Amino acid sequence: MTATIIDGRAVARRMQAEIQTGADQVASRLGRRPGLGVVLVGDDPASAMYVRMKQRACERVGIQSSASLLPASAAQAEVENAVRAFNDDADIDGILVQLPLPDSIDEEAVLNEISLSKDVDGIHPVNLGRLGMRGRNPTFTPATPTGVMRLIAESGIELSGKEAVVIGRSNIVGLPIALMLTNADATVTRCHSRTVDLPMVTRRADIVVAAVGQPELVKADWLKPGAVVIDVGSNSLPDPTSDKGYRYVGDVDFEQARDVAGWLTKVPGGVGPMTITMLLANTLKAAQA
Ligand code: GUN
Repeated sequence: MTATIIDGRAVARRMQAEIQTGADQVASRLGRRPGLGVVLVGDDPASAMYVRMKQRACERVGIQSSASLLPASAAQAEVENAVRAFNDDADIDGILVQLPLPDSIDEEAVLNEISLSKDVDGIHPVNLGRLGMRGRNPTFTPATPTGVMRLIAESGIELSGKEAVVIGRSNIVGLPIALMLTNADATVTRCHSRTVDLPMVTRRADIVVAAVGQPELVKADWLKPGAVVIDVGSNSLPDPTSDKGYRYVGDVDFEQARDVAGWLTKVPGGVGPMTITMLLANTLKAAQA
């Protein structure tokens, strides 16, 4: 079997064109563009790059972005005040606190400060709690898992009654994607570093979501033929043949998996572009509310 490749770039491009139209409509209705407030603390190069990419994407679709860049030495109160300033700013519709925060900062206390109506990254503890509770609706859901669900839906894949396996248990990907798959009526197994026989668990899955940060971990013989395989990993590996000296690979061994899976995302060009797109979509939704 050769897997059908799920093209995140194409879906993201189409959605971003729609978001641009929506942002223009907001601008003519409100006399201002939708606004995203970004809080970045410290100088982690990967976080700085993600924030740059998110701000560039905002610019492309006509969302105004404004950043509070704080040093790694910032005090807890300074970080919380940056969030509060965006809460109080009528030109800001959504707030993104880029994670991880430095170890010296109490992350939960910072996230608790985000106004629920502006939590466009869906990572306020109340929103994550609501996501896991029946009959409760979060104001927004986290960008990456929401992008994964959108890619699955766009591919016409039915989730109800299917076996789904999530590898990884981070607060911003593994946890919410497991909750969202459960809410879509899949039967979900959550795996992590202490899972004893990971390949045995993944082999029974109709849907595998890999979000563990281990380069090319998932091999062909871990997969049931025809499985839907969503790769959330983005790991840089040294590559002397590349101009940059490195290349990005996912948590799935793509070349192996494509011969067994029914559906497969690429890295790069799969989930990554959707993460940014869902943040833009949520920011527009907040401005339209
Ligand atoms: N750090 C890495 N990915 C993300 C994300 O999707 N949202 C936030 N807030 N921080 C991140």
